Amino acid sequence: MPFRDRRVIVTAASSAPTGVFDSGLGGLSVLRHARSRLPAEDFLYVADSGHAPYGERSADWIRARSLNLGEFLLGRGAKALLIACNTATAAAAQALRERWPEVPVIGMEPAVKPAAAATRSGVVGILATTGTLASARFAALLDTFGRDVRVITRPGTGLVEAVERGELDTPATRALVASHVEPLLAGGADVIVLGCTHYPFLRGLIEQQVGSSVQVIDTGDSVARHLAHRLSGAGLLRSGNPEGTEHFWSSAASGTAEQVVQRLWHPDARLASLPE
Ligand code: DGL
Repeated sequence: MPFRDRRVIVTAASSAPTGVFDSGLGGLSVLRHARSRLPAEDFLYVADSGHAPYGERSADWIRARSLNLGEFLLGRGAKALLIACNTATAAAAQALRERWPEVPVIGMEPAVKPAAAATRSGVVGILATTGTLASARFAALLDTFGRDVRVITRPGTGLVEAVERGELDTPATRALVASHVEPLLAGGADVIVLGCTHYPFLRGLIEQQVGSSVQVIDTGDSVARHLAHRLSGAGLLRSGNPEGTEHFWSSAASGTAEQVVQRLWHPDARLASLPE
């Protein structure tokens, strides 16, 4: 795996950037919230699109790869790491915290707790990757917060790939979304949790298909709030910077991938190749 032998000196200065990574471009849905909560912050974002989807990979593989991506970001001066990926959080958050105990590592998990509080039918639908749904962390989450409701889970197979290709509103993506939400609705869910950071980019489609009586929940903003809280608590919150910046790397950088980033983030965004 790359980056292993690079010596990482952790930067603990509020002026340093925050490192963010995901299996691909889904984490931009979290970065969007982080940017609006932390306008002065500089962000480094790694999309591991060359290895997406993570949801079908083993936890050991995701853990090793996440350590490498963390090392890359810390090597570029990151003061904190945001794992903008439910699947990588389940597999690797603990390993990252053990490797760099002095670095704030912020992860994310499907919003089972708010969904259980919001449901009126008593049935909650969770759309997430196979890896997240199979993880011990998710089992523990259900055990803690899902006891008093019925939880129906559905792996959103194919949705990550559709977002990576920038196919947010094609007939094929519509049909795929329908095939995933229909079993949740048929089971009586009145709350659907978007348990993968790629899915908020399909939120419009999902909401059209489920109708207004079903609530769709995504954790992006609460994760951004938590990031702000952790940075502030560690004395690492950047201030006095008029406008924060973003830098993007991808393990599958190409003209087409850059166009997708420009569509999902900003027309001026540039995508660099993640070094091997
Ligand atoms: N975006 C990721 C998540 O939140 C992972 C998607 C994947 O690569 O399977 O789970």
